[in-house]
Amino acid sequence: MVLNVRSIDSWCRRPWESCSGNCNYHGGWDSISFLDDRKCLENIQGIPVIGGLNDYISFKNSFEYAFVGIGNGKLRIEWLDKLLKAGFKIPVIIHPFSAISKHCSIGEGTVVMPGVVINSSVKIGRGCILNSGSSVDHDSIIDEGVHVSPGVHISGAVNIGRCSWLCVGSNISNNVTIGRNVIVAAGAAVINNVSDNLLVAGVPAITKKQLGDE
Ligand SMILES: CC(C)(COP(=O)(O)OP(=O)(O)OC[C@H]1O[C@@H](n2cnc3c(N)ncnc32)[C@H](O)[C@@H]1OP(=O)(O)O)[C@@H](O)C(=O)NCCC(=O)NCCS
Repeated sequence: MVLNVRSIDSWCRRPWESCSGNCNYHGGWDSISFLDDRKCLENIQGIPVIGGLNDYISFKNSFEYAFVGIGNGKLRIEWLDKLLKAGFKIPVIIHPFSAISKHCSIGEGTVVMPGVVINSSVKIGRGCILNSGSSVDHDSIIDEGVHVSPGVHISGAVNIGRCSWLCVGSNISNNVTIGRNVIVAAGAAVINNVSDNLLVAGVPAITKKQLGDE
């Protein structure tokens, strides 16, 4: 988890113009610290680790913003809710080398990595990861806690359910609906709707196994 004192605008850019809806764009911070449960960690790339995850409350008065950097989508949303309840502000973090339509919305706690393209009328939920070089095309809706891995392409009018994980290099055909807690394996091409709690793989993608509930 990352704690930030306040935004000073460097890892920050405007989308093509300014984004409508609930986007807020922050980046660059005047002080950054991590909370991490690995006791042996004193710093991460030179940035101090000042406590464990559950210590967040004690930093409420010294840090204004907090951001969850946990890979598991369900945990990411749980922590996001805890931080909001505690009164932290949650930024959207957007790399400057991304291209984002002004006609889209991005929920708090989402990170947009380098090379991402988000096209017109897209809605991205809270606590998502849009990883390097991925794209989300027009009118698609990505629910909270979704991880779009590097090089994933989501075409137009696609729906992705809560906490699903699209693995590296997968492609989602237009108008497809993918349920909650779905894993789309690396390199898959999804051309049909996918129900909740399934792992699908292959070209075209077929069901490989049932997953436990979220
Ligand atoms: C999907 C994935 C996570 C494996 O999940 P898993 O639960 O361990 O799945 P399993 O290894 O039990 O595989 C289940 C079945 O799916 C198949 N499968 C898994 N990944 C596959 C893939 N990428 N392509 C085709 N088939 C695949 C397995 O061969 C197996 O098939 P079988 O039952 O017919 O033998 C992994 O294959 C994958 O795609 N990893 C990529 C991770 C990634 O994108 N990381 C980026 C982080 S930034």
